[in-house]
Amino acid sequence: MAYLPSPSAFTIKHNPRFICTRPLRPNSLHNLCFFTNRLKNHPAKCHAFFGNIPDALEETIPLDQFPLLRSGYMQFQNFTEDLSEAQKWGFLVFAGFTWIYLTARPGVLIGAIDAYLLAPLQLGFNSLTGKTSLKRSDFVVGNKLGEGSFGVVYSGAIVPKNLIVEDKVQKGRRGKSMELDKKLKDKVILKKVKVGIQGAEECADFEEWFNYRLSRAAPETCAEFLGSFIADKTSSQFTKGGKWLVWKYEGDQSLADYMKDRNFPFNLESVMFGQVLQGVDTVKRNALIIKQVMRQIITSLKKIHDTGIVHRDVKPANLVVTKRGQIKLIDFGAATDLRIGKNYVPNRGLLDPDYCPPELYVMPEETPSPPPEPIAALLSPILWQLNSPDLFDMYSAGIVLLQMAVPTLRSTAGLKNFNSELKAFKYDLNKWREYTRRIPDLTILDLDSGRGWDLATKLISERGFLRRGRLSADAALRHPYFLLGGDQAAAVLSKFSFSRD
Ligand SMILES: Nc1ncnc2c1ncn2[C@@H]1O[C@H](COP(=O)(O)OP(=O)(O)OP(=O)(O)O)[C@@H](O)[C@H]1O
Ligand SMILES: [Mg+2]
Repeated sequence: MAYLPSPSAFTIKHNPRFICTRPLRPNSLHNLCFFTNRLKNHPAKCHAFFGNIPDALEETIPLDQFPLLRSGYMQFQNFTEDLSEAQKWGFLVFAGFTWIYLTARPGVLIGAIDAYLLAPLQLGFNSLTGKTSLKRSDFVVGNKLGEGSFGVVYSGAIVPKNLIVEDKVQKGRRGKSMELDKKLKDKVILKKVKVGIQGAEECADFEEWFNYRLSRAAPETCAEFLGSFIADKTSSQFTKGGKWLVWKYEGDQSLADYMKDRNFPFNLESVMFGQVLQGVDTVKRNALIIKQVMRQIITSLKKIHDTGIVHRDVKPANLVVTKRGQIKLIDFGAATDLRIGKNYVPNRGLLDPDYCPPELYVMPEETPSPPPEPIAALLSPILWQLNSPDLFDMYSAGIVLLQMAVPTLRSTAGLKNFNSELKAFKYDLNKWREYTRRIPDLTILDLDSGRGWDLATKLISERGFLRRGRLSADAALRHPYFLLGGDQAAAVLSKFSFSRD
């Protein structure tokens, strides 16, 4: 929201009425006290505040310079012509509150613009550019990369327009096949939706919906979505009628792949910083790399939470690291949009148990199923404020931080053991530290007076009183752990000499 600049001492002295006409910042106690004091001291002047909106406005803002504002103001005048001044003020206050409500998280107003303007525009644009007309023959399918409950994921490539691949791949000789590889430069990820599995199609539709939505609202946070197609015939991996989702190939490894390597986090150093640090203490190097990864994860979470989306499956396997050191969120099959209740079923918890917070669900189980979309959207700011569903993802982010920083927690067995101990200590991380039987190496988190550890304890915790006992992404980014982090990294980078890998 934009605010008018504060009046300077000069303006106040020479035009005291300015004080009475300046719009107040919401929640600004200072402004309120200042304003009420002025009311006491200048009753006549401040009569103008409640007495005459047009004069006050005209004196404060040079409307001639802002034609749009001027026309809005004229319309306001026409509209409120027959109202008394008190009614006009009532109207203004009501409009102010409505504005605050509609722009509060998860953003009813932005959501409406997205749903009724941007989404149809995107649809039109996609059909013009051919994005919605993907077909089976546009792709070759490569290696299987993973298999989830509703789909099988493959690497693949886009077939150039003038190439008929089927014949060349199947009938071609070895040499021909290598020649083909060179031509297939645009790598993609293909997710084959399982046929005949209950709920698989529905999950795929949600994943597609969330990918389109994020490609409009926060494209930098996730893998670039290219679209979907239905296989038109059965051949090799394709089954006629089966649905496929397609993304740009963002990188060879996920954070989980990097973490499996004994060299972690050094194996991420040149990817994250563009170079390898030399002459820096090993522990500090480790800590800087982990902080850089963590900052990106939380920044992306903040962006998706700002749009009302909770990912619900944040874990290293769902974070792809690009060549340029960006961390992209993938796998939105379990995500939920709490602005309109998309993919939200009150008692459905979908997350990987190793990263799942103790409350199990994004909203309390007794929350009713969402009403129709426009009503759900109107109620969403209240539900969001009451339940802070975004904190669900923040617990998982805390586990990712702990895993990166504590080597013994990187293995599946180590993490499972940690989770069962933590449960026994009622999700009190400090108690776990005190009483755990295996002594974990917490050096990285204990650096800088334990800032990393403090952040971990504020992410990995119960929801507590009013369901707010955990840091949001916004608050986490303001935590001292991240303070000066970027500068520190830059300082270190400029201070020492580097060598490329
Ligand atoms: N856009 C992408 N770029 C590069 N790699 C990707 C991309 N999307 C997915 N992958 C790789 O494929 C794997 C599986 O993808 P995804 O998480 O979407 O599927 P899934 O159904 O959950 O399967 P899984 O249970 O194996 O995680 C990821 O862990 C990642 O290694
Ligand atoms: Mg996955």
